[in-house]
Amino acid sequence: MSEVVPPEDDAVARADEIPSLSDPVRLFERWMVEAVAEEVNDPNAMALATATPDGRPSVRMVLLKGVDARGFVFYTNFESRKGVEVLANPRVALLFHWKSLRRQVRVEGPVEQVSDAEADAYFASRPRGSRIGAWASRQSRPLGGRGELIAEVARYAAKFAVSGVPRPPHWSGFRVVPDAIEFWRDRPFRLHERLVFRRADPAAAWTTERLYP
Ligand SMILES: Cc1cc2nc3c(=O)[nH]c(=O)nc-3n(C[C@H](O)[C@H](O)[C@H](O)COP(=O)(O)O)c2cc1C
Repeated sequence: MSEVVPPEDDAVARADEIPSLSDPVRLFERWMVEAVAEEVNDPNAMALATATPDGRPSVRMVLLKGVDARGFVFYTNFESRKGVEVLANPRVALLFHWKSLRRQVRVEGPVEQVSDAEADAYFASRPRGSRIGAWASRQSRPLGGRGELIAEVARYAAKFAVSGVPRPPHWSGFRVVPDAIEFWRDRPFRLHERLVFRRADPAAAWTTERLYP
C-alpha cells in the first residue's frame, strides 16, 4: 500500500530536536522523569538482550535499579540463564520503550558486577518476602510445580526466622557500562527522530550523530 505523502504539517516541520547534550545520562534521566509521570506502571522496566559466546541471543525484562555516570544497574540471580550468559559474554543491550510517551532508548555495552557493598545495600532495602524469594527461587531451572516453590519459600522463611535474611551468594547486580545510547522519539508520518551517542571507552568523550528514521 502506498504511503500518503505528508503534507506540510506543523508537527512534521517542527524543528525542535532531541537536545544533543554532552552527557546522554542526563538526557536519559530527564526522559525517565517524564516516563515516571506518564507510564501506568514499571517505567524502569527494560528489555535485556544477552547472547551466548557463539551468538545465540535471548531477551527478557528486568528493572533498572540505578543509573549514573557509571552505567545502568539491574539485579538478578547469577545462576539464571541471563546470569550465565552475561558471565560468559559480557556484551549486552538494553531497551526501554515508553508507550505513553512514544519513545524508546537503546543502550549497548559490556557489563561489570556491582560491588558486594552495593548489592548488599540494595538487597537489604527489599521487602523480606522478596529477600526470602531470592533464596527460594533457583531461577531459570526446572520446577516440579508451584507447591515445590512454596515449600522452598517456607523452608527459607523458617531458616531465617530469627536472623536477618542475608544476600544469597548467587544474587547480585550487573552494571551495563554504555558505549552507545540511542534516543528515539515518535514524529508524524514515521519521520521519527533518532539521536545516538557513542564513545570508544568510558574515559572518552561522547560523540553524537542523528540517524534517518
Ligand atoms: C516488568 C518485569 C520486570 C522484571 N524484572 C526482573 C529483574 O529485575 N530481575 C530479574 O532477575 N528478573 C526480572 N524479571 C523476570 C525476567 O523477565 C525473567 O523471567 C527471569 O529473570 C528469568 O530470565 P532468564 O531465564 O533469562 O535468566 C522481570 C519481568 C518483568 C515482566
